[in-house]
Amino acid sequence: MSFYRYLSTTVKSSSGNFQPPILSGVVKQLSKFSSQNELIEYSQRPIEYIYPNNMIEACSPQNSTPIDLIKTASDLRDQLLVRLAHCLYSFQSIPFLPAANPTLLSLHERYLKSFENLARFSKIETINDEEKFHEFINRFFIQNNDVIGLLSTGCNEAQKYFKSYKVLKDFLDNVLHKRLSMRLLTEHYLELHKQQKTNQINSDWRGAISMKFSPAKVAQQCINDVSSICFETYTVVPHIELENNIHEPVPFFPNIVEYILRELLKNSMRAVVEYNKISFGKMQNVKKYFDDNRDKPLCKVVISSDPVDEVFTIAIRDEGGGINASYDEIFRYMFTGNVTEADEANKEETEEIGILSDFQERMVQS
Ligand SMILES: Nc1ncnc2c1ncn2[C@@H]1O[C@H](COP(=O)(O)OP(=O)(O)OP(=O)(O)O)[C@@H](O)[C@H]1O
Ligand SMILES: [Mg+2]
Repeated sequence: MSFYRYLSTTVKSSSGNFQPPILSGVVKQLSKFSSQNELIEYSQRPIEYIYPNNMIEACSPQNSTPIDLIKTASDLRDQLLVRLAHCLYSFQSIPFLPAANPTLLSLHERYLKSFENLARFSKIETINDEEKFHEFINRFFIQNNDVIGLLSTGCNEAQKYFKSYKVLKDFLDNVLHKRLSMRLLTEHYLELHKQQKTNQINSDWRGAISMKFSPAKVAQQCINDVSSICFETYTVVPHIELENNIHEPVPFFPNIVEYILRELLKNSMRAVVEYNKISFGKMQNVKKYFDDNRDKPLCKVVISSDPVDEVFTIAIRDEGGGINASYDEIFRYMFTGNVTEADEANKEETEEIGILSDFQERMVQS
């Protein structure tokens, strides 16, 4: 089965189109930054694409050369330095006012510090060096769990200070692409390290890539998680039907799919509950409607693959009233449902805002 092409497309697009940066602005602002020469050097280097099929082949048990953790660590150090330098360039390229936003500034400083610390790992040549590097990468991975939330908060707060939407979009596209590829590469290395050190090399995993990834299993797990959070928040849960048309496992990065599915299911469940709350008024009536209609799915997840097995698709359809916005608007950063204005109208609906933000908060925590 050849899903490799799809995997390659995913990672290639996550690296974005490389634009060689012009660094004079960066250099001026970073005169006190001790690794500025390295920063200039790395930010002028193009991003080297890493293809998942190569990642899989490199750690296949059939491969005559076993994984060399020292070399893998050393390569990762280089790849992260280039990507961090490109991210820093993006931060340096935004106008002064958004750049001064405290949330964006703290993220910028965090990336600078990471770059500086990483640049200090001059060479990884021994097992000991690799162990130290592994500890560093582990911290780096955990520390950056909140990047998406911080970017979202910072850009929301500062969006009116960006000169145009294009400036905001270019900034977010660049940082998110680099961040995604750093995340995948880091996670892959951490898994390889764990598998080698604990001798847990098995045919189901190649680093962070699951060779037996089952979209249906992950979808069901996400449905269960989001359903229980929906219940805690609203006391009702719409029934979600899962239609699975892929019966063979595929190689994939499970965490990415899980992240996206949870976000989409969260949107669907929220829409279905909120929409029916408007129609039925009380939550008890919504519950009765959901119970009476268990055979008629208000939300459906369909998993399929194309005839030549090049891609798989996970589609989510719901009866939550749809989105009253154009295609272009929906895919703009910062697009969100305009719940607040409508809800100012009456007190009961103001409580709804509380429920809504509570739902979002629980999702973030989970
Ligand atoms: N399935 C859906 N049905 C109806 N409206 C939807 C659906 N999915 C998204 N929307 C609308 O699109 C808006 C944007 O969704 P998006 O997931 O990007 O952000 P959000 O849900 O508002 O915030 P967050 O995902 O960060 O909690 C939502 O606020 C909602 O109004
Ligand atoms: Mg959402």
